[in-house]
Parts: sequence; structure tokens; C-alpha cells
Amino acid sequence: MLSQGVKRIDHIAVVVGSLEAALAFYRDTLGIEPSRIIDFPREGVKIAFLPLGGQSGSTIELLEPTDLSSGVGRFLQRRGEGMHHICLEVRDIDGALAELQAAGAELLDATPRPTAEGRGIFLHPRGTHGVLLELIQRDDGEQAH
Ligand code: CO
Repeated sequence: MLSQGVKRIDHIAVVVGSLEAALAFYRDTLGIEPSRIIDFPREGVKIAFLPLGGQSGSTIELLEPTDLSSGVGRFLQRRGEGMHHICLEVRDIDGALAELQAAGAELLDATPRPTAEGRGIFLHPRGTHGVLLELIQRDDGEQAH
């Protein structure tokens, strides 16, 4: 068990073919206003952040691949649009990584990678009952999201 526990669902990431087309539903039909839209070339994606529930809430992240050879680009080509991963926030990503390694968890990262929110690691769906799972420690710590 992670000694510091899991704080909250940070975000749910959805791969889309076009942010513009996806926002026509998420923003214009559901009424969830994006807080920001960024280019994140490190992962070959553009990301629209759709926050819900205030500071202790969560975010839907729409990911549009800008590079079809990226992980998200390959996902879109192979599987089409859909849910990509769930992300949980932890207080100490280095501690969580060490504890998961000791527990024999199937990790996709040997060290935390820089993410759009902070530093994170991914766990293979084989070990999580079918869901690609990300754990992150946010750069903004306890502050607003
Ligand atoms: Co994520």
C-alpha cells in the first residue's frame, strides 16, 4: 500500500482526432469551459484542459495528436478516439515509484517523466485491471488546479 495514499482523481484523458470538433461537444454542448489549451510537443499532442469541481475536482483532458508516431498518435490510428488513461494525484511521486517497484508493479517509467501537470509515471493496463494508469505529483502542490 502506498504509504502516503492517493489524493484524488487528477484527470481523465481522452484521445480525439480534432480538439475543435471535440470542443464542439464538451464545451458547446456540455458547457465545460476549457481553462487552457496548450501544445505539448514532448508527447506529440495538443491538450485542452476542462476542469470540473473546483480545487478538489478533476479535469477532463482532450488529447489531439500532432505527431502520428507518438504514443497518442499510434493509439488514435489503432483504436480510434476514446479514453486513454486515468490519472491519480499523489503527494510524493518518487516515494510512490519506489514503493510500486518494491511491490512488483508493472511500470512503464523507471523515473518520473515531465508531464503537462508535474512529474508522473505510467502503469501498464495489465497490472491495473485494464486501465492505463498515471500517477502524478503536481508542480503546484496543494494549490488550485
Ligand atoms: Co495524463
